[in-house]
Amino acid sequence: MRTTVSIIGAGPAGLLLARLLHNAGIDSVVLESRDRAYVERRQRAGILEQGTVDVLRAAGAAERMDREGLRHDGIELRYDRRRHRVDFPALTGGKSVMVYAQTEVCKDLIALQLDEGGPLLFETEALAVEDAETGHPRVRFRHAGADGGGDGADGGSGVEDVLECDYVVGCDGFRGVARAAVPSGVGRTFERTYPFGWLGILADVPPSHDELVYARHDRGFALLSMRSPSVSRLYLQVPEGTDAGSWSDEEIWAELERRFETDDEWALRRGPITQKSVTPMRSYVHEPMRHGRLFLAGDAAHIVPPTGAKGLNLAVGDVVTFARALVHRTRTGSEDLLDTYSATCLRRVWQAERFSYDMTTLLHRAPDATPFDDRLQVARLDRIAGSRAAGTDLAEAYTGFPIG
Ligand code: APR
Ligand code: PHB
Repeated sequence: MRTTVSIIGAGPAGLLLARLLHNAGIDSVVLESRDRAYVERRQRAGILEQGTVDVLRAAGAAERMDREGLRHDGIELRYDRRRHRVDFPALTGGKSVMVYAQTEVCKDLIALQLDEGGPLLFETEALAVEDAETGHPRVRFRHAGADGGGDGADGGSGVEDVLECDYVVGCDGFRGVARAAVPSGVGRTFERTYPFGWLGILADVPPSHDELVYARHDRGFALLSMRSPSVSRLYLQVPEGTDAGSWSDEEIWAELERRFETDDEWALRRGPITQKSVTPMRSYVHEPMRHGRLFLAGDAAHIVPPTGAKGLNLAVGDVVTFARALVHRTRTGSEDLLDTYSATCLRRVWQAERFSYDMTTLLHRAPDATPFDDRLQVARLDRIAGSRAAGTDLAEAYTGFPIG
């Protein structure tokens, strides 16, 4: 097999990249280890920055998002039983965000790719990226056998083959194989883990507030989000390593109620919980995001804790930057933009790392937190609530920094 760009991974990064390249007349093949149903069901954050919305529209992938997505003009910060709204358009000169789940972004991009784009191969696991330093990189992969092959994660049966190409883009997430093709000694990693995670639930109940609520509480952080006007998405800070099954539905609702409690009449609506899982929290950056003809994009290169809702938006910035650089190379013969890909992406990545870290430490209670730390958090929140400059800083970062 041969193509111009091998794309490993069909998450938001790989799928959008395939779409952008298709629109520019550049061919690609997407290899995805999981099956389609798995990719379309995986729950992740679903906050799209204004810039991400603009990119999806320009790519012709926003038709359903424009019908079903929910435009949000602010978020609520809740602490000390008080509520403070951060008004995005007022603070940023008109910017807002779109609540449209990552699963829906993936479904839309998959449908477009299968209808109009190049090959998108599910249950096809990339095994290794080879010869990345040469002009002829290759991806060794295994396609699930005729017996079905399961979820592609079993490392078992299947047919091995090689995809030859001009460029490889590793969009294969944090646990993918692409990053491993960068020799140790060439790259550098920066990492921080947090001693807590998020217990996330989906519940069949209309959201209890029309905007997202980020709550700081002495018992830990809580977040109220939504998937649609009839489905709520809620999170609780829990100790690292917590098993989702160890929390009963009743315990989850009772704890959410405590952490969201206010002095006014606001009430949390309960409903049937349809899904429960725990997400670990990590900050991670791999530098550089390029090795020869291999480019890393999205979670393959960096992870942010979800408190800033930046993961998907960073992935979009990376693949837009790569697609622009490759189109420039195709049209002019110049590799300049490919050469600056990593530095261009990393400037934005580190802003998102900073913001996600700030939001995380602003709102979560560390296991070793002292009363001094508690007071500082409240003082930081009071500052955001009381100063237009501090509020603007949060609103600008939440609605997104420019791509490129
Ligand atoms: N071969 C083929 N595919 C692979 C391999 C492999 N060896 N390893 C992983 N994958 C696939 C995964 O199954 C997954 O579908 O790569 C995809 C990576 O997708 P994501 O983890 O969603 O990563 P990315 O596209 O960078 O997502 C960016 O959007 O999904 C949200 O918030 C999430 O931060 C994330 C952001
Ligand atoms: C979500 O809806 O899943 C979500 C929203 C905002 C976040 C994180 C997750 O910061």
